[in-house]
Amino acid sequence: MKIPETVAIIMDGNGRWAKKRGLPRTAGHKKGADMIREIGLAANELGIKKLILYAFSTENWKRPEEEVGYLCKLPGLFFDRYMKELMENNIKVTFAGELDKFPQETQNVVNKAVEQSKNNTGLNLCLAINYGAQREITLGIKKYAQEVVDNKRANDLSESEFSKYLFVEEDIDLMIRTSGEQRLSNFLLWQVAYAEFIFTPVSWPEFDKQCLIDCIKEYNERDRRFGGIK
Ligand code: IPE
Ligand code: IPE
Ligand code: MG
Repeated sequence: MKIPETVAIIMDGNGRWAKKRGLPRTAGHKKGADMIREIGLAANELGIKKLILYAFSTENWKRPEEEVGYLCKLPGLFFDRYMKELMENNIKVTFAGELDKFPQETQNVVNKAVEQSKNNTGLNLCLAINYGAQREITLGIKKYAQEVVDNKRANDLSESEFSKYLFVEEDIDLMIRTSGEQRLSNFLLWQVAYAEFIFTPVSWPEFDKQCLIDCIKEYNERDRRFGGIK
């Protein structure tokens, strides 16, 4: 089985999963965080190089204060519980997004996990937090434009160089969205240019290792031509 190098997942459906069980939405997010552990370990075992998980979008600030507050606390709960195991498995934690909009405590726990695992050589587990692709692209353009204005570089940008101005430099091989919705919700718009898409009805709290393997099997059936002819 060919393993995709870079996989992205829109982890959707925590709220609906909880509601169906008569639980508060936050219970869905808690279970969702446990699945990050399971899928992170599985991706590492399978030999995926980078797994980018959409955990909090720039639009998610619109949610009720209580839910946003819980989501801000989740990284702390997650790393307290699982960082040791991630380290034992040589997993490198990174993030994509504007971390500085989060409470200082959240920023500290994420930065600590990144620092602690920076020399690990296994899976790059990248959490997209306060991430929005339109924001990412806008920030990248502003940064590049400023360099041109400051005479630090010429106005000669190429597509591959532009990627370096983004939070996520890699092209996505496989993009998965759980829980039935078939949209990107502002995730990795630049990077999915030639990604394969899988939309599964399974909710994120139920998306286990076998579900990931099934997605990779389906990915293996796709004929990726990149505009050429085979
Ligand atoms: C995904 O689950 C997690 C986040 C967006 C933080 P949702 O919270 O969107 O769950 P649904 O889509 O309402 O079921
Ligand atoms: C996308 O899910 C964001 C994350 C999974 C973090 P949403 O639930 O926020 O997306 P919409 O609102 O259904 O498009
Ligand atoms: Mg949702």
